[in-house]
Parts: sequence; structure tokens; C-alpha cells
Amino acid sequence: PVMLILWALFGYLMGSVPYGMLTARFMGLGNLRDIGSGNIGATNVLRTGSKKAAALTLLLDAGKGAVAVLIARAMAAEDAVQLTALAAMIGHCFPVWLRFDGGKGVATFLGIMLALAWPAGIGCCLIWLVAVAATRVSSMGALAAASASTFLLVITGYGYMLILGIALTLLLYLRHRANIIRIKAGTEPKIGQKG
Ligand code: G3P
Repeated sequence: PVMLILWALFGYLMGSVPYGMLTARFMGLGNLRDIGSGNIGATNVLRTGSKKAAALTLLLDAGKGAVAVLIARAMAAEDAVQLTALAAMIGHCFPVWLRFDGGKGVATFLGIMLALAWPAGIGCCLIWLVAVAATRVSSMGALAAASASTFLLVITGYGYMLILGIALTLLLYLRHRANIIRIKAGTEPKIGQKG
């Protein structure tokens, strides 16, 4: 159990780094909390007008999830790997550095999926792309990809990750509460719109 606690702590700390906020600050784009949805993710970084910063945020937020679980996979047993994944997602969504009010977990979720179950991860990315192409709404892509993820895990032979998949999906949904309300109200901004 001590090792599991350490892996959870490792995952949490890896996930908790708010790369979007850091990228925006270092590139002189301002405080993300004052922009668009106020979120720290790539979608909101794009609302600063910098595609480069948004792409970098997406890469870093996905990368931190992927790297955390790949390190765990190289060194520890499956239970530690999955715990690290969940902890990284929790770290991104509830970072101690931002008074536990962090991001919505989309990029980190995709990074974890690609690293641990790449066929399901690719499926999630494709569903994100198709949903966003169809609706031009980033959160629609996220909600669609997360919704499909458990099904994708099972049909691609990663059923042993089902509980993790469900937990990640619930977290992502929880963090998209405001988006879901806006989608229902028809006020969710399209991608790149100021919001
Ligand atoms: O990346 C999170 C996305 O699904 C929604 O972001 O800023 O539009 O709330 P945002």
C-alpha cells in the first residue's frame, strides 16, 4: 500500500501542473481565468488567439498524462498503473496549486488513453474530431469521446481497464457541468470563439 500511495502521489503531481496557464503566462497571453470560459485547457488558450499556444497546451496536458502512466507501466504492476492514471486526471482537474480548481481533463484523458490502450485512445481522438467537425463545439467532442471510451475499451480488448475508463469519464463529465448547461441552453461557444 505504501507503494500505491507513492504512485498516486506521483500521478497527482504530474497531472497537477497547469501547462495551459503556464504557457499563456510565459507567452504573454494573459491570465486564462480572465479569458473565455476561464478554463486552463487548450480550448480556452485558443481563445487568446494563439494557435501555437493552444497546440502546445494540448501536447503538454496530454503528454503529462501519457508520461506518468508510461513511467508507472515500466516500473510497477497494473493496479499501480491504473491508480497513477486516475491520480493524474484528478491532479489536472483538482490541482493543489490552483486551490483545487483546475481543468476539464480532456487532453489528459486522451493522453492516458493513448498511452495505456492506444486503439481505444485513437478511437476517442477520432470521435472528438468528428464531433467537433460536426458541431464546431470543443466540449461536444470531449463529451462524445468520453462517452464512447468505455465501449471502445471493451471492444478493443482493454476490458480490464473498464473501471478506470468509467472513473475518467465521470470526472470529465463532472468538470463539464457548466458546458453541459450551456449546450442545453444553446449558448456554448463554437471553437475559437471568444466565449
Ligand atoms: O478542453 C475542455 C473543453 O471541452 C471545453 O473547454 O474552455 O470551452 O469550457 P471550454
